[in-house]
Amino acid sequence: MQTVQEPAAPTTSEPQWTRRNLLRTGAAAVVVAGTGALGYRVYDTAVLSPGRGDAYDPWQHWRDEPGLLGAVGAAVLAASPHNTQPWIFGVRADAVDVLVDATRGTGTVDPYRREQHIGVGCAIENLVLACRARGLEPTVTLLPDDSRLATVAVQPGRPAPDPRHDAIGERHTNRGPFEARAVPPETLAGLVDPTGTAGLAVRWIAEPAPRAALSRLLNDAAAALVADEQQSLDNFAWFRSHDDDIQRHRDGLTLGGQGFGAVKLALAKLLPASSRAAGDQFWLKQTADVHTATAAAYGVITTGTPDDRATQLTAGRLLERIHLTATCQGIALHHMNQITERIDRERSAGATPAFAPRFAELLPPGEQPLLTFRVGYPRRPAAPSPRRATDQVIR
Ligand SMILES: Cc1cc2nc3c(=O)[nH]c(=O)nc-3n(C[C@H](O)[C@H](O)[C@H](O)COP(=O)(O)O)c2cc1C
Repeated sequence: MQTVQEPAAPTTSEPQWTRRNLLRTGAAAVVVAGTGALGYRVYDTAVLSPGRGDAYDPWQHWRDEPGLLGAVGAAVLAASPHNTQPWIFGVRADAVDVLVDATRGTGTVDPYRREQHIGVGCAIENLVLACRARGLEPTVTLLPDDSRLATVAVQPGRPAPDPRHDAIGERHTNRGPFEARAVPPETLAGLVDPTGTAGLAVRWIAEPAPRAALSRLLNDAAAALVADEQQSLDNFAWFRSHDDDIQRHRDGLTLGGQGFGAVKLALAKLLPASSRAAGDQFWLKQTADVHTATAAAYGVITTGTPDDRATQLTAGRLLERIHLTATCQGIALHHMNQITERIDRERSAGATPAFAPRFAELLPPGEQPLLTFRVGYPRRPAAPSPRRATDQVIR
């Protein structure tokens, strides 16, 4: 689960308009005057230049650099849980080693580091596509030894055009509302290229009854996650509320990535920040009123071996490939993993499983859920999220 989590409430008297109130009411018409304090918030949240600055530069230059270093520039644009970017790349003359940065985790939200390894898998997919586009024929070896998650060795080849490569700079997680129209079944099926993904399946949940059941489960899981203080805290740790932090860390979740319309986003940035608890409540409301209410269909990546690292890396590759294909077709994708985050939390805490049996009812026997996302035709485009530069992630 990832959402807007707000920093601590101001200690001075509570203003009439807070982000919390705005986000709760959805109000979009507040006249604001340029007071000194407001001027500071304009600067502090970069309200006039969302998505700008060094933290967003990697989106501008990812095509420019040739060779393996350039391919790493495409890899860093991949999806990752909470935008943790848990990757390290070792660039050699004819290969890139891919390692996990275990310090970049989400604690109790991902106790078995399943999502972390899936995120690295997403980066491997971008890396492979970017090698091919640069005339480097890649061979991927997963888990070559204990220290490396993968090695991508390359040989000279011919540049191979691929629209999925061209979509790398346009792929963004879309947390906004989707249109009411359905995505046809054949279009959903066409989003999946299963090459090299043995042991994984993609189940589409688009019919009204199972879709409603999964929506209920997603809302219930969000509520359980918010009620679990440690999960809420671990989630909050990756929210960057101030532009200074975004530019310094170049990772994490931002207001700009929450799928608001322009006016609501500008107002949310101008208003004083509210508390973690208010952010949690906001996320619950968005999950109910926007995310599940406007999902045209859900995709679930399943497997019989969810704890296997190679399976997780391959699932990341499949997930990124689906998202890039969807981007090519004007279909939005929003990752929604609160159910599996609760399943893993219950398991690691030794609690009676509440969510695993309910999810199992919606899936074929023997298949366990690894990843969940919703798709649909977007009402508005999604915004880019910050990224660390290539030289910050190579060793
Ligand atoms: C394994 C994995 C799990 C994720 N889970 C969620 C989720 O539950 N909710 C959500 O809003 N985004 C989720 N995301 C999306 C990330 O937050 C997103 O990829 C990251 O913030 C970078 O943004 P971008 O995808 O727009 O580049 C997930 C991504 C990955 C790879």
